[in-house]
Amino acid sequence: MTVFKKISVINENKSFKYSILIGNNFIQTLEKNFSKTLKGKKIYIIYDEFFYKLQLHENLIKDFEKVSTKLGSENFFFKIKSKDKFKNFDKLSILLNFILSHKINRDSIIISIGGGVTGDLVGFASSIVLRGVKCIHIPTTLLSQVDSSVGGKTGINTKHGKNLVGTFYQPEGVLIDINFLKTLPERELLAGFAEVIKYSFIYDKKFFSYLERNIESIKKLKSPYIENIIFQSCQIKAKIVSIDEKEQGIRAILNFGHTFAHAFENLINYDSKKLIHGEAVAIGMACAFKLSTHMNLCSKKEARRCIELISKFNLPTKLKDIKGIKISSKKLLDKFYLDKKVKNGKIILILSNGIGSALVKNDVDEITLKKFLNELINE
Ligand SMILES: NC(=O)c1ccc[n+]([C@@H]2O[C@H](COP(=O)([O-])OP(=O)(O)OC[C@H]3O[C@@H](n4cnc5c(N)ncnc54)[C@H](O)[C@@H]3O)[C@@H](O)[C@H]2O)c1
Repeated sequence: MTVFKKISVINENKSFKYSILIGNNFIQTLEKNFSKTLKGKKIYIIYDEFFYKLQLHENLIKDFEKVSTKLGSENFFFKIKSKDKFKNFDKLSILLNFILSHKINRDSIIISIGGGVTGDLVGFASSIVLRGVKCIHIPTTLLSQVDSSVGGKTGINTKHGKNLVGTFYQPEGVLIDINFLKTLPERELLAGFAEVIKYSFIYDKKFFSYLERNIESIKKLKSPYIENIIFQSCQIKAKIVSIDEKEQGIRAILNFGHTFAHAFENLINYDSKKLIHGEAVAIGMACAFKLSTHMNLCSKKEARRCIELISKFNLPTKLKDIKGIKISSKKLLDKFYLDKKVKNGKIILILSNGIGSALVKNDVDEITLKKFLNELINE
């Protein structure tokens, strides 16, 4: 048994439909579920550099070669540098050149296997090469398993901000193999928990209580807790993106904490030594709770309980937890305006009105925001 759980991602007008398969043997799952898609095709396997660093790439190549031999397909392998600062135009161009120089055609398949950086870059490349070639995601970090591989957002960063160039492009399927989490550095694992916790904050109070009750087992990746939280997270995300693929409404709540997070990441120039995405989201969510209480949307008691949960997952919650950040309320506000979440000149913030519920606010005036940011900075 390699697949434990399956989630269907299907939208109302049926313009996309795919499955998220959660299991413990991605190559068997791939062969079993995608043999028709892969048969006789050119397959571009774009893999995260960690395979190489941990000397796992030879096995990876062997595994894919076995499948291709059976299916009569042809493989091309390409290694991706997986830091956020490499999710840029230069690396996209190198990747596209590789794919094109190996004569990709419309029937080919592109497979991303790695963290969110790999998935976002490869997803973007798949959506634009030959105006769209099928793509399968095999996410290998917790964050990419519960978040970035689901929902079809692809993209790259520019000097103007994070993820500002990209597409909505749904994959053919997502294969989640929990064994990948065994080699994931602890810091990356904890960062992934930030997005897991987020789903409970914005959507599901019961899930919040489950996380509160089982923190230690979850952190130790014990079964069935880890499978359950991945399943629960993907299910919530799948539900939301099925209703609102292009973020015209409810999908915006998935950005809870992210306006803050993107500003912090930009301020430290995406330097992963100082901050990684999930850590930025953890601090961003704590900030969002503080602003929510400041605006009397959420009780102090509930906000405290949520910030405590973030801390119990060993994640940062304060601006001063960001190494070497030089910050002023003006600088921070300027970064907010760079974010995609600005409409008619107003910053859109996702705030909390209690555990398990979030709301979109676009009427927070600049004076209130500046005052609040000053308080945050001096905390
Ligand atoms: N598209 C979306 O909807 C969406 C959502 C959330 C985040 N994102 C993006 O995702 C990115 C962050 O993704 P991430 O947190 O996965 O980071 P990442 O892709 O940078 O991976 C983190 C590190 O872990 C290593 N790694 C990956 N899998 C491993 C494994 N199994 N064992 C050992 N090492 C492993 C990588 O090489 C890298 O050094 C950001 O660019 C963010 O903007 C996108």
